[in-house]
Amino acid sequence: MNEEMKRIEAAKQMGEARQQSNSTNLTGEQIFYRSCNTCHPSGKKGMGPRLDEVNEHYPEDAQLGAFIRKGKGMMPPQAKDDLNDDELKNVVAYVRTLSESLKESAKK
Ligand code: HEC
Repeated sequence: MNEEMKRIEAAKQMGEARQQSNSTNLTGEQIFYRSCNTCHPSGKKGMGPRLDEVNEHYPEDAQLGAFIRKGKGMMPPQAKDDLNDDELKNVVAYVRTLSESLKESAKK
């Protein structure tokens, strides 16, 4: 590859990387690590509570989504600019899975 080609290739890759980081559809896991993990480290107790009883406290996805959207007390709200509706759905699903796996690990 000559220099010119290399430069074009590098610019293309940077463009793609930038597009991915601006992606508005992050997975639930990505969102959790970005926005929730500081207070709920891997779903465990931190500044926020352990998330093992989420499925009991919020059986409906709409309730859980509304709670995450609004926040409560020390927990910050998530504006639509930061978390669109699809991403909210993704993080709701991720938190449910995380919650189940925390319960599983507590049994052992
Ligand atoms: C700054 C710390 C902080 C961040 C960031 C944070 N939380 Fe929380 N979270 C809390 C606190 C504190 C509570 C308890 C709120 C209360 O009841 O007063 C809480 C409660 C919760 C609950 C309710 C648990 C239950 O069983 O009742 C869920 C679910 C939850 N957080 C999910 C999330 C998700 C998802 C995110 C990321 C989008 C997030 N939290 C980000 C601090 C935080």
